[in-house]
Amino acid sequence: MTGVAERAAAAFAERYGEPPAGVWAAPGRVNLIGEHTDYNNGFVLPFALPARTAVAAGRAGEGWAAWSEHAGGEPVRFGVDDLTPGAVQEWAAYVAGVVWSLRKNGHRPPGARLAIASDVPTGAGLSSSAALECAVLTALNDLGDLGIPEAARPALAQRAENDYVGVPCGIMDQTASVRCRSGHALLIDCGRDEVEQVPFDPAAEGLAMLVIDSRAPHQLVSGEYATRRKACEAGAAALGLPSLREVGDLDAALARLDDEVIRRRVRHVVTENQRVLAAVAALRAGRIRAIGPLLTASHASMREDFEITVPEVDTAVETALVAGAHGARMTGGGFGGCVIALVESGAAGAVGEAVREEFARRGFRPPAPFVTVPGAGAERIG
Ligand code: GLA
Repeated sequence: MTGVAERAAAAFAERYGEPPAGVWAAPGRVNLIGEHTDYNNGFVLPFALPARTAVAAGRAGEGWAAWSEHAGGEPVRFGVDDLTPGAVQEWAAYVAGVVWSLRKNGHRPPGARLAIASDVPTGAGLSSSAALECAVLTALNDLGDLGIPEAARPALAQRAENDYVGVPCGIMDQTASVRCRSGHALLIDCGRDEVEQVPFDPAAEGLAMLVIDSRAPHQLVSGEYATRRKACEAGAAALGLPSLREVGDLDAALARLDDEVIRRRVRHVVTENQRVLAAVAALRAGRIRAIGPLLTASHASMREDFEITVPEVDTAVETALVAGAHGARMTGGGFGGCVIALVESGAAGAVGEAVREEFARRGFRPPAPFVTVPGAGAERIG
């Protein structure tokens, strides 16, 4: 198959009868550690996948047309009058949502034709929606000379998803898609809206980052996500704090909470923030293997305290550890999606195989393991 940029450009030429003005791309992400901490003003440490979504774009007089290789068919067309949330549906809602969000925030995105191609797996918890939003945003920003600084872009894309598409996600995925750099993980301090590039090059240390798509059917995801958010807000309110970021003494805080479930949700968030900072310290000290136990502890916390794992991801983590991984955890919002495992370079094949065999034994759908490296953030690629 040809590259994603070429596919988007060729589709543009075919659909609209002229070459695009340019091609822009934004990546999906893997979160190394820091789950469900972003909307609690906490810390997260994602890195960008090499797999990206590309948008070939050209200016048009009025309104917007968007075509996607996943959907096929005719381009979806919409104008200024069609921009109320709910008016544009399905995948094109992410495109219309970005246009809507830009306009809501005082920008004037140009009328445009878009053709979209993507290598980011959908429905796997790898942020294909953030990749689409951020690719469209980057394209419109350049095409219309909007001059939106990089630091301001993630919130515009998040607003498209929160208020146009209607998914109550935090700021991690869009920040990762816009601001990650090759060879680095991105420490995001979601409370202060600050980022720091943290060198992360497993291959240089003889290691590999294995991603295992559990292919577990995603169910209840958005409802459970919203329930977790509410529990965290309730915990902060019960403690009289603006957010769980401000919890100082965890034991003292837990002693003040009557609700058993909320106590466990709070414990996950507070300990997860500590694990993110410990992982950053280990990476900065050049001790990549030392993050292994932190990944595994993060998974245990998601399984026991936050209760967002499912048998497929628990099995993938346990099997990867038995097969020799230094650490493993589910990545992303939960209830399916992918597991990441830090393994010696030479062991990636065997660990993936062990998970495949265990899934077959348990009658799960075959998993899809692949090795990845930290890739680049959103940029013009053609
Ligand atoms: C999803 C959301 C993110 C974040 C993660 C959990 O990916 O989009 O904002 O909350 O879940 O860490």
